[in-house]
Amino acid sequence: MTTSGCLDNPLHADYYADRAVQRRVAIVENVRLARDTYRVRFACPEIARRIVPGQFLMMRLADVNDPLLARPLALYDTVPDDDGVSTAIDIVYLTLGKMTRRLAECAAGAELDVWGPLGNGFPPEPTEHLIMVAGGIGQTPFLALGQEYLGQRQYGEPPRRVVRAKRVALCYGVRAADLLAGVPDFEAAGFDVRLSSDDGSVGHHGLVTDLLGRMLEETRGEDRLVVCCGPEPMMEAVADLCRLHAARCAVSLETPMACGIGICFSCVAKVRQPDGSWDWKRTCVEGPVFDAAKIVW
Ligand SMILES: Cc1cc2nc3c(=O)[nH]c(=O)nc-3n(C[C@H](O)[C@H](O)[C@H](O)COP(=O)(O)OP(=O)(O)OC[C@H]3O[C@@H](n4cnc5c(N)ncnc54)[C@H](O)[C@@H]3O)c2cc1C
Ligand code: FES
Repeated sequence: MTTSGCLDNPLHADYYADRAVQRRVAIVENVRLARDTYRVRFACPEIARRIVPGQFLMMRLADVNDPLLARPLALYDTVPDDDGVSTAIDIVYLTLGKMTRRLAECAAGAELDVWGPLGNGFPPEPTEHLIMVAGGIGQTPFLALGQEYLGQRQYGEPPRRVVRAKRVALCYGVRAADLLAGVPDFEAAGFDVRLSSDDGSVGHHGLVTDLLGRMLEETRGEDRLVVCCGPEPMMEAVADLCRLHAARCAVSLETPMACGIGICFSCVAKVRQPDGSWDWKRTCVEGPVFDAAKIVW
């Protein structure tokens, strides 16, 4: 995680949207992946070639005033053209409220306003074993990240270099089997995919943290980097497990956001300071990815 910058200025952040662009884009496809879960694809070469795993976009339906505010959505993957240059973006979303429900009804050709790339993204820290832990819709940032760690894809401008991991695993927990979204993509990428469900309809009948606990036992003594995204109680439990197993852990917070660019302070989280105190940090410009050991849950 980056620590450079004007540390004496409490408003300083390393990831202001200085390199972000705003574009009106047309939906290329909007397909259902699972219950209440869709993947929307749109061409936007300027964002596609800059964005890195863990970064996000703000998205609005074009010419719609309700909802007025854009919503943050993480990169699922970029789509390369025939020359291997990323030109389009895939976002996977769960239908929850006004924006995502209306988005699910949009057909190819419908327009969206998007701006990004935003936030810090996952730091490309070298590790022997990348363990990604997802709860609910929290799996969305991990296709791109895992592909990057397996040397299959590069992201960013210039393309960022990530030291190849020996193994990439995904522990993915859902309420029920019909909510699983993207598993064929994760398996095709070669991740070691381990599933859990609350109702026992797929994989381990229980919590995703049970899967993580087993994996941390299996990899004892190896260099592990755990990355996590999902509901806050799950991320807190993952952070505790990682502390017990002396594994590094980064979490991607999903706090509601109004502006996405550091102005409104609607997205703050409590983060520990070097002197042991805590301070509010804006998830949109100082996150969404934080060192789990620094979050005050
Ligand atoms: C960095 C980041 C990345 C994200 N990435 C993704 C992603 O990749 N995919 C994804 O699906 N989501 C992602 N999210 C979450 C996503 O931004 C939210 O789910 C988004 O707010 C949905 O917008 P909406 O308009 O559909 O729902 P909202 O209207 O914003 O509603 C969100 C929740 O609030 C509830 N709600 C709304 N109005 C009310 C009300 N009046 N009273 C009580 N409850 C209410 C809804 O039922 C719902 O549970 C991300 C969030 C962040 C911060
Ligand atoms: S969403 Fe406005 S400051 Fe983060």
